Amino acid sequence: MGIVAVLGRGVVPADAPLLTADDLGVLRGDGVFETVHVRDGVPWNLTEHLDRMRRSAERMELPLPSHDALRELAGQALAARGEGGEAALRLICTRGREFGDTPTVYATLNPIAVNLPEVRRDGVRLMPANIGYPVHPEDVRAGAPWLLGAVKTLSYAINMAGQRAAKAAGYDDLLWVSADGWAMEASTASLMWIDGGVLCTVPPSKTSILPGTTSAFLMANAAALGLRAEERMIRPEELHGVDGGVWVASSVRGVAPVVALGETRFAVGERNADVLKLAGFPVAD
Ligand SMILES: Cc1ncc(COP(=O)(O)O)c(C=O)c1O
Repeated sequence: MGIVAVLGRGVVPADAPLLTADDLGVLRGDGVFETVHVRDGVPWNLTEHLDRMRRSAERMELPLPSHDALRELAGQALAARGEGGEAALRLICTRGREFGDTPTVYATLNPIAVNLPEVRRDGVRLMPANIGYPVHPEDVRAGAPWLLGAVKTLSYAINMAGQRAAKAAGYDDLLWVSADGWAMEASTASLMWIDGGVLCTVPPSKTSILPGTTSAFLMANAAALGLRAEERMIRPEELHGVDGGVWVASSVRGVAPVVALGETRFAVGERNADVLKLAGFPVAD
């Protein structure tokens, strides 16, 4: 079991009671969270994660503790672990008890899945999956804020159902495709590709997908690979024609090449090792 730290209590035994039965995080998935990659004992891009958590909380009208309080909470969990190497840090804020007004806030720190180095090396096969609404030119979720587009809520049951469906069909993950045929994102990762010397990702502003911290980092540092960076809409069938490779990117999984989309197989892009290195992941042999 991993490490658990609770706001105002500090580190508690990992099996200590933490939530009451009426916590709205459990009853309604009503809350926000972040998953942060810990490298050499240090949370990577923590500020960007806290900024996104704050934006998520604002969209849900959820009172989030200050960045300093959340940093302290993360620090307590990390200090209790007291070692370097990789780990996954989660920061969680639920709306708290059903008739209360105090959020439940805690952090967990866990080892990463043992197969992640192989996933980063061998890549992922994605199943295209219709998400059921159009995004372009009219982004349905932008006009319906209660659909919580671009918000990292605790309600990941749909994402997990998508992952299960993809795995049952023999894939590693899915690629959500809008009802009008645009590629969006994987169940818990952003889509990226290189074409004609340009590093691309899907624009969250046009699709209400989650703005990824990993994709943002890569886009901001594309010049280090001699690439320009650009947000672009793309159809899944256009992805096999890109000349530099396709990836999924997320904090803990990191960057993994997409080696198949549906029936179409993709070659691992020439710049794969460079992209992984830029994201800070050495390529496993
Ligand atoms: C739906 C979704 N899209 C994209 C991402 C990638 O975001 P990040 O790079 O900040 O981990 C995640 C991360 O969990 C996600 O859940």
